[in-house]
Amino acid sequence: MNAANPIGVFDSGVGGLSVLHEIRRALPGEDLLYVADSAHAPYGDKSRQFIEARSIAITEFLVSRNAKAIVVACNTATGAAVTTLRSKFSMPIIAMEPAVKPAVTNTKSGVIGVLATSRTLAGDNFVKLFARYGEHVQILGQACPGLVEQVEAGDLSGDKTRLLLERYVLPLLEQGADTIVLGCTHYPFLAPLIRQITGPTVAVIDSAAAVARQLRRRLEVGDLLADEDRVGAESFWTSGRLANAQPLVAQLWQAEVKVSALPSQSFE
Ligand code: DGL
Repeated sequence: MNAANPIGVFDSGVGGLSVLHEIRRALPGEDLLYVADSAHAPYGDKSRQFIEARSIAITEFLVSRNAKAIVVACNTATGAAVTTLRSKFSMPIIAMEPAVKPAVTNTKSGVIGVLATSRTLAGDNFVKLFARYGEHVQILGQACPGLVEQVEAGDLSGDKTRLLLERYVLPLLEQGADTIVLGCTHYPFLAPLIRQITGPTVAVIDSAAAVARQLRRRLEVGDLLADEDRVGAESFWTSGRLANAQPLVAQLWQAEVKVSALPSQSFE
């Protein structure tokens, strides 16, 4: 494997761009490939087998573009597919874990809220986190149907998004949560609105920076870090409609970008 090769990153849609931002910050010299599977978002509605098949197909596409490492920038795909991906592919595969551990360290009230998809909250990984930390603090899991769709529509601050967030966040605050974990990679794009609802005394945290640090460590250990003096580039693909994806990715990446259609033959 060549250290000059790119890093592949994927999500059910554009949420993983929140992780890509942190990867870019931590690894400025790396070339980054990003796949948004927006034609199939949200993954939360789909079967485990479907998510696994999509994750394998997208990873194969990224491998065909010479990816030296894969970041599963999706909590739902992590739960459904990471074990299979690690058994099928030999390169480093870095995946998401909701930031429950730092939340447990942070909380003073002893109550933390976790916003995630229903599938993530019901998955083995979360059940394990719950078992590990739930003895010391109260962990309130809150499923958030509809939020992924709002981010996919680029609606980060409209009335409907605010109403949904109030419905999900206010009960957590009423139960004493002083720390809110964003357990879905789409949600960091809603953090400004979430902070308006929680007020300044509640911490809102996610695991994107920790995942970027973990990726950096894995590349270092494997002697796979690109030359840090160069400026890395990003390439974007979507399975969704380009007319939607182009402005949405530009909005969330905060730069002019070219989004390409994900070749469908890689999924046959
Ligand atoms: N960004 C994905 C996650 O982190 C969204 C899940 C979905 O598509 O249901 O879980």
